[in-house]
Amino acid sequence: ARPDALPRDMAGLRVVVSAGGTREALDPVRYLGNRSSGKQGYALARTAAQRGAQVTLVAAATVGLPEPAGVELVRVGTALELRDAMHVVSPGADVVVMAAAVADFRPVSQAEYKIKKTDRDPDPVALTRNPDVLAELVGVRSPGQVIVGFAAETGDGGADVLEHARAKLKRKGCDLLVVNAVGEGKAFETEDNAGWLLSSDGSERPIALGSKAHMASDIWDAVVTLTHN
Ligand code: CTP
Ligand code: CA
Repeated sequence: ARPDALPRDMAGLRVVVSAGGTREALDPVRYLGNRSSGKQGYALARTAAQRGAQVTLVAAATVGLPEPAGVELVRVGTALELRDAMHVVSPGADVVVMAAAVADFRPVSQAEYKIKKTDRDPDPVALTRNPDVLAELVGVRSPGQVIVGFAAETGDGGADVLEHARAKLKRKGCDLLVVNAVGEGKAFETEDNAGWLLSSDGSERPIALGSKAHMASDIWDAVVTLTHN
């Protein structure tokens, strides 16, 4: 949609959006990363600004996306940096959206110098858990703050995508969970998204296949309803 075609219904709201994939350093030149493009988080930030919100975008690695107009941009690399930035910018915000793909694990230690190849196989990489930023933000939320999580799920033998997502919504304690099915060319690195919007009040609705800007609008529509309560 053209910016002037969008409602200005987010005027007066301060929103924080995280986007992109964190990179966990192994040594000065290598990292563990993920396939997040950052496109959905950037679309959320851009759309919220077009609808009148004051937006802070905390951006981990993306596929070189242009800076959205009218948005305060904070760049981060690792999950720990993203966590620190979110704890600085989130207090007092009306809405926090965790669209970033945060690495669940990081190497226990980072080599100070580039790891050199030898004539032996390398030691296995020891990993440790990263903090769950979304769960932390829920734990320290300001009164009335709306918190939105994302879930990229693949179905498996035991439970389908929606069942995993319902359990995740409960576990995380956020108000809304945006659910994408991933794998087989879905969601990651693509232009279009589809999924479900699960609410902590138990309501569930599908989000039709469309552009990431379209999905962003659907998500903000649901958020705006909650901020009016
Ligand atoms: N998230 C986070 N901090 C982490 C991992 C995830 O804040 N260390 C956030 C993501 O930004 C997303 C939500 O939690 O909004 C769900 O992420 P996801 O990876 O789907 O959930 P996990 O709890 O990590 O569970 P799993 O990867 O095992 O499915
Ligand atoms: Ca995860």
